[in-house]
Amino acid sequence: MNTGIASLRAEHETILGVVDQLEGVACGFAGGQAPAAYVLAAIEFLRVFVDQNHHAKEERVLFAAMAADPGLAGMAEALTADHSEGRALVGEIDAAFRAGRPIDNLVVAYAAFIREHIRRENEMVFKAAENTLDESVLAGFDAKFLEIENEAATA
Ligand SMILES: [Fe+2]
Ligand SMILES: [Fe+2]
Repeated sequence: MNTGIASLRAEHETILGVVDQLEGVACGFAGGQAPAAYVLAAIEFLRVFVDQNHHAKEERVLFAAMAADPGLAGMAEALTADHSEGRALVGEIDAAFRAGRPIDNLVVAYAAFIREHIRRENEMVFKAAENTLDESVLAGFDAKFLEIENEAATA
C-alpha cells in the first residue's frame, strides 16, 4: 500500500477520535457552555490539523492527481466541495460558541458530516486512487505531504 495514502488513513483515525470526544463534551453541556479552553482548542484542531493539514494534503496532492483521471475527477470535485461545507460548519460552531450560544446541535451535525466524508474516502476514494493512479505518482505523495505539514505547523 502507498504510504502517503496510509498516512491520510491514519490521520482519519486521529480526526475521528477528537470529533468523538468533542461531541461527547458538547452534548454533555447541551444547552449550556462547555469549557472554553477545551472548545477553542478543539476548534483550532479542526482548523489547523483537519483543514490546513489534512484537507490541504488531499486537495493539493491526492485530488489534484485524481483530477487528471477522467474516472476519478468527479470524486475529487465532490470531496473538495465537502471540505468547503466542513469549513463552513466549523465557522458556525466557532461563531455560536463565541456568541455564548449552545453548540451541541452544530457539533452533532459536524460529527455526522465528517464521519460520512471520511467513510467515503476510506472505503471508496482511497482504494480507487490506489488502484488507478500510477505508482510513480503515488510514490511522490509523501514528500509533498511533508511540505504541507510544515506549512500548517508554521501558519
Ligand atoms: Fe477529505
Ligand atoms: Fe480525509
